[in-house]
Amino acid sequence: MSKNANVLVIDDEPSILNGCRMSLSENGYEVTCQPSGQAGLEEALNGKFDVVLLDMKLPDLNGMDILAELHTHTPGVPIVFMTGYSTVQNAVKAMKSGAFDYLAKPFSDDELLFAIDKALENKELKEENQCLRKQLFERFDFSNIVGENNKILEIFDTIKKVAPITSTVLLTGNSGTGKELFAGAIHAHSLRSARQMVTLDCSTLSPSLLESELFGHVKGAFTGATQNKQGIFGTANRGTLFLDEVSNLDMEIQGKLLRVMEYGEYKPVGASKAKKCDVRVIAATNKDLSSMVTEGTFREDLFYRLNVFPIRLPSLSERKDDIPKLAYHFLRFFCRKIGKHLEGFSDDALATLMNHPWPGNIRQLKNTIERLVILADKGYLDSNSLQGLESDARSKVNKAPETVAELKAVKKELLDSYFGNIEKTFLKKALTDCNGNITKAAQQVGMQRSNFSLLMKKHNMSVKSIPPSK
Ligand SMILES: Nc1ncnc2c1ncn2[C@@H]1O[C@H](COP(=O)(O)OP(=O)(O)OP(=O)(O)O)[C@@H](O)[C@H]1O
Ligand SMILES: [Mg+2]
Repeated sequence: MSKNANVLVIDDEPSILNGCRMSLSENGYEVTCQPSGQAGLEEALNGKFDVVLLDMKLPDLNGMDILAELHTHTPGVPIVFMTGYSTVQNAVKAMKSGAFDYLAKPFSDDELLFAIDKALENKELKEENQCLRKQLFERFDFSNIVGENNKILEIFDTIKKVAPITSTVLLTGNSGTGKELFAGAIHAHSLRSARQMVTLDCSTLSPSLLESELFGHVKGAFTGATQNKQGIFGTANRGTLFLDEVSNLDMEIQGKLLRVMEYGEYKPVGASKAKKCDVRVIAATNKDLSSMVTEGTFREDLFYRLNVFPIRLPSLSERKDDIPKLAYHFLRFFCRKIGKHLEGFSDDALATLMNHPWPGNIRQLKNTIERLVILADKGYLDSNSLQGLESDARSKVNKAPETVAELKAVKKELLDSYFGNIEKTFLKKALTDCNGNITKAAQQVGMQRSNFSLLMKKHNMSVKSIPPSK
């Protein structure tokens, strides 16, 4: 408990003031006493108090009026009323008007300390909660989700519309496209944001464990179930449940999930009675659920239940125009985190980033920028700093692509990186041989001048970068 907390006591009875001062300061509180309503109110408005102990009946001002003033000017500071037995009715009224608690006179030291502790604890919890909500909002605020590409702007719009309603949302998109981030944004902008968003990664649990994880179990339901356990649906009640990688749910669980979603009730493992719940589901997958339905590995009815509001997140290669903004966003983020100062990217570095295929999408871009910031030994990042990118692309060959989209992305990446390099050396050689004269270089290799300069542009090359031939 926060000892050192500042307590203001307002009462016209010297014995109460003295008693409170003694027992509170003995217990580590800073105590200020005021013997009249007016002086107390002024003190409360000018000082910084964590809790105010207020007599209900003061000769100059009415306790209820002071309460109203303090509520307006120092909201968040809990007020504990002190009242004679005969005015308990009034105390009830005061509680209704927002006092945190009341103490009926005469009260013991223990009662006093208990009420003050409770008020402070409540204040701390409220502040903590506000801080968490603020963090949630900041993290998932649209200003922290970078994107100006039309497809992303449309998604922002859709999310603003769908967030406040309770419809199920299905987020699809390749790995690293921001599904979890957008799920968080939907929750943060929903009317449930004061409650939790519980995330369940459906790929990490075995079917038998998953059922108890989702729905909880009763004591004795199976070996090891030594106590009742609340499941995820219980924890997420009145909040949001984010089912990540929903394609990995086994068929039996799919059926049970469908039931909860349809009827708003579920049965903990081993229980005889169903429990009601009110959970908004957001699901995400990087698989094509409709083809899984065709293959018979995903239930059609669940698919339709989840697919009420599908949102497809584009791959980074479909929104290349966002790459510079994202790159700068991550650069600033990691500079702050690591404590380095980097100006930014050279034009050729940005061009390299934009031409890279990014099969791992935004996550891969983010990880790459983190690595670059760590390794950077000058004040900006240029194409030399990015040399690792191509070997990075080659290492992808060792990892089997899991979807056709990934296969295509890897193929394009390899072609771009291998063939792009050959193109670059080809241009460089011709230009070096011809002393940077584009017309001559194009003639020498048998190309139209316009095509030759287009190819230079593609690789962001300029004659200035060509060393003079000896
Ligand atoms: N538009 C964006 N702006 C800023 N950061 C982003 C954006 N999109 C994604 N990120 C960041 O990229 C990383 C990957 O995003 P996220 O985890 O949401 O992807 P995902 O689609 O859930 O990936 P997976 O399918 O692999 O689980 C996260 O660190 C996230 O914060
Ligand atoms: Mg994810």
